[in-house]
Amino acid sequence: MHSFNYLDGQLYGERVKVEDIAREVGTPFYLYSCETLTNHYRNFEKALAGLEHLICYAYKANSNLALCKILAKEGCGADVVSGGELRKALQAGVPPEKIVFNGNGKTVEEMELALQSNILMFNVDSRPELLLLDEVAGRSGKKARIALRVNPDIDPQTHPHIATGLKESKFGFEFSQVIEGYKLAQTLRNIEVAGIQMHIGSQITKVDPFVEALKKIVDLAGELKKLDIKIKYVNVGGGLGITYSDEEPPSFADYAQSVIPAIKEIGAKGIFEPGRVLVGNAGILVTKVLYVKETQSKKFVVVDAGMGDLFRPAFYSAYHEIKPVNLKAESQNLKADIVGPICESGDFLAKDREIPAVKRGEFLAVFSAGAYGFSMASNYNSRLRPAEVLVKEDKFRIVRKRETYEDLGRGEDEQD
Ligand code: LLP
Repeated sequence: MHSFNYLDGQLYGERVKVEDIAREVGTPFYLYSCETLTNHYRNFEKALAGLEHLICYAYKANSNLALCKILAKEGCGADVVSGGELRKALQAGVPPEKIVFNGNGKTVEEMELALQSNILMFNVDSRPELLLLDEVAGRSGKKARIALRVNPDIDPQTHPHIATGLKESKFGFEFSQVIEGYKLAQTLRNIEVAGIQMHIGSQITKVDPFVEALKKIVDLAGELKKLDIKIKYVNVGGGLGITYSDEEPPSFADYAQSVIPAIKEIGAKGIFEPGRVLVGNAGILVTKVLYVKETQSKKFVVVDAGMGDLFRPAFYSAYHEIKPVNLKAESQNLKADIVGPICESGDFLAKDREIPAVKRGEFLAVFSAGAYGFSMASNYNSRLRPAEVLVKEDKFRIVRKRETYEDLGRGEDEQD
C-alpha cells in the first residue's frame, strides 16, 4: 500500500534509510514517496477506466510543486481553491482545461486570473458568487463555465470539522434552492452551465454517503433536463478516506463501482477531486526526541515537531501512527503523550500512546502525514516550517528547503 517499510528494524522510504535522511537534512521534515503517490493515482485511474472522467487532485491536501508535477505528468488535473493554488497548478504544468476552481470566497482577482487562464470550470458556491462571476466574466470578455456546488444534506459520518455536505454547512447551494440557481444561471449572458458539483466531506470510510448523495444528484439532473438544462459533468468531489489506524475504507474499485452508475445514468462525464487518498499515505513526518519527561501522573515524549508542523492531532484529535525510525528488537514499550515544543497544552501528536521506549536523540516517524500536513503548517511560536523531502527509488532530494530566520521576518517592519 505504501513505500515506508521496515527492514531489519530500520525504516526505509522506498530504498533509502530514513535515518540517513534525518542525519543529512535535520529534523523535523516531511518525507514523500514518489512510488506511493504514483501508484495511488494510477490505481484510481484504473478503477475509473469504464467511465469518461477527469481526476482533479485537490491541491489543498499538499501543494508541494514536486508532488504536483509528478501528478501533472501522469495526466492528473487540479482542484484549486485560491489564486495561489491556481498559480501552482499552472506552474506544475496542469493544462487549464483540467483545472476546476472551488471555494466559497472567490475574489474578483481570482476570478479574473481563472478566466484569463481559461480553466475548465468554476464550482460556484452561492447565488451572489454566480452574479459576481457573470459580471467579472462580462468585463473580461469571457464566458465562465460553471457547475453549481450542491449541498445534498447527507451525513458523511466523519469528524464534524470535515463534514461539508450537511445543511448547516457553509458550503454550496441548499438543495431546495438549486433549481432556482440553475434557472438564474441560464439567464446570465456570461455564464455557461456545464455541470453539477458536490463534496460531502473528507475521510469518508464507507460508500453509502456517496451513493445517497448521488441519488439526489440523479434526481436533480432529471429535473434540470425537463427544464432543458444540460448537465455535461458530474463532479462528486473528494472525500475518500484512508487508513490511519484500523479504518477499512473502500478500495478505489469499490468506490468507483458505487459512484459510476449514477454518473452514467445522468449521461455525464465524471470529475473527481481526491486529495487525502492520493497523498495521505505517501508521506510521513520525521521528528527527533528532545526529552523523555516523567511526572507523577504521566510520561511525555517531547519531540521537535508540534502542532505547527502537523496540526491534525491538535485540531481534530486525529490519530497518526507513530513509530521509532530504528526499531530495536529488545526494547520495551512505554505509554506516553507525544508532545511538541509549542507553548499550548493542545500541542500533541498523540495522547496516551504506547510506543517502544525511546531516548533523547532518537527519531520517530509519524505516518499518514502526506495530506493536510505541511499544507496546514504554521509559524506559530516563530518556529520555522519543516523541510520537505522526496524519495524516489534509492535517491532523495529536498523539495522544499527548511525555512530560515530570514524567511520568518520577511516583510515585517524593522523600523523604530
Ligand atoms: N474538493 C473539495 C471541494 C474539498 O473541499 C476538499 C477538501 C476536497 C475536494 C478533497 O477532499 P479529500 O479527498 O482530501 O478528502 N484538513 C482536514 C481536511 C479538510 C478537507 C477540506 N476539503 C484534515 O486534515 O482532515
